[in-house]
Amino acid sequence: MTTPLPFDAYNSLSDAECEARIRAARHQLGKEVVLLCHHYQRADVYQHADLTGDSLKLSRLAAQADSPYIVFCGVHFMAEVADILSRPEQTAILPDLAAGCSMADMANLAKVERCWRELGEVLDVEREFTPVTYINSAADLKAFCGAHGGIVCTSSNAGSIARWAFAQRPKILFFPDQHLGRWTGHNLGIPLEDMQVWDPDLECGGLTPAQIEKAKILLWKGHCSVHQMFQKRHIDAFRARYPDGIVIAHPECNFEVCAASDHVGSTEFIVKTIKAAPPGTRWLVGTELNLVDRLAREMLPQNKIVQFMATTICMCSTMQRIDPQHLAWTLENLVAGQVVNPIVVPPHEAELAKRALDRMLAIS
Ligand code: 13P
Ligand code: SF4
Repeated sequence: MTTPLPFDAYNSLSDAECEARIRAARHQLGKEVVLLCHHYQRADVYQHADLTGDSLKLSRLAAQADSPYIVFCGVHFMAEVADILSRPEQTAILPDLAAGCSMADMANLAKVERCWRELGEVLDVEREFTPVTYINSAADLKAFCGAHGGIVCTSSNAGSIARWAFAQRPKILFFPDQHLGRWTGHNLGIPLEDMQVWDPDLECGGLTPAQIEKAKILLWKGHCSVHQMFQKRHIDAFRARYPDGIVIAHPECNFEVCAASDHVGSTEFIVKTIKAAPPGTRWLVGTELNLVDRLAREMLPQNKIVQFMATTICMCSTMQRIDPQHLAWTLENLVAGQVVNPIVVPPHEAELAKRALDRMLAIS
């Protein structure tokens, strides 16, 4: 058996050299490989995408893919979903295993199981709570939801998923993003005081039994650091300067930002909404910089102005890990008959996680 091409040699390649080698490898691989790209990917990677989308769209695309190899230019949980939803003979590959999601890491199975146990000391947890995990979570948390009558949601379907969850049981345990959970609950008409934050580092989440009994939604104390950079004062300054400007934000932003925005939705929603807007409109966008920069460039010929919401540069550093060097390395290994960085979810976990993902796909 031959050994994989080592990565070291790729470190010193220029982006231009990588680009040529990526194109050559793709040409050789043909339909053997499909390249799925999240909207936050950097331009020098995004240009090679076969298909792009938000987490929901990419999940569906992975489930429908025909190629034996799915190279996922995104983060770890997305490649796990591709592995779970694709056929057993297909392989999902993440070009750099360090491309994680810091929000996903804010919840883990041990902490969620402890939370479930502690809730069980207060009430009949299996009858009272539907666990809902944001797709930005590890596969074992999706499996937890699969095993406990729960479900997965994304930023584009959280409302309908929450309605489904409430049709099963009176309360929701939502993890790991408190902001998406709060915005979703608010849109369903749940008062803020009926949504309590569960702090996994405190005993019983830092809540009293009375608070747990009253709550309709328990919001895991997790967040996306990128989206916390956007603040309501950025929106206020924009509106003062451009009274006709339109504000659009991702639901991982804090509640004040979502409430002050004209539109709130997933990355795919943001892209589609701005592309469909009339020429001459001006937009303030609260999501990751690579996406906003790309849109700004694409919309300029139509005389649409697209501005980034924060005053500091905030990119998703883990999405950035997928660079032309790692992509060239991954593809040239495939040409050489070697699979590097396959993402393989253990079968039992994958089966339970698929249960929760299939429930989501059936609803959205
Ligand atoms: P989308 O599903 O809206 O693309 O969001 C994924 C994500 O990680 C946003 O930070
Ligand atoms: Fe995770 Fe935030 Fe990056 Fe999205 S932007 S992948 S939530 S760290």
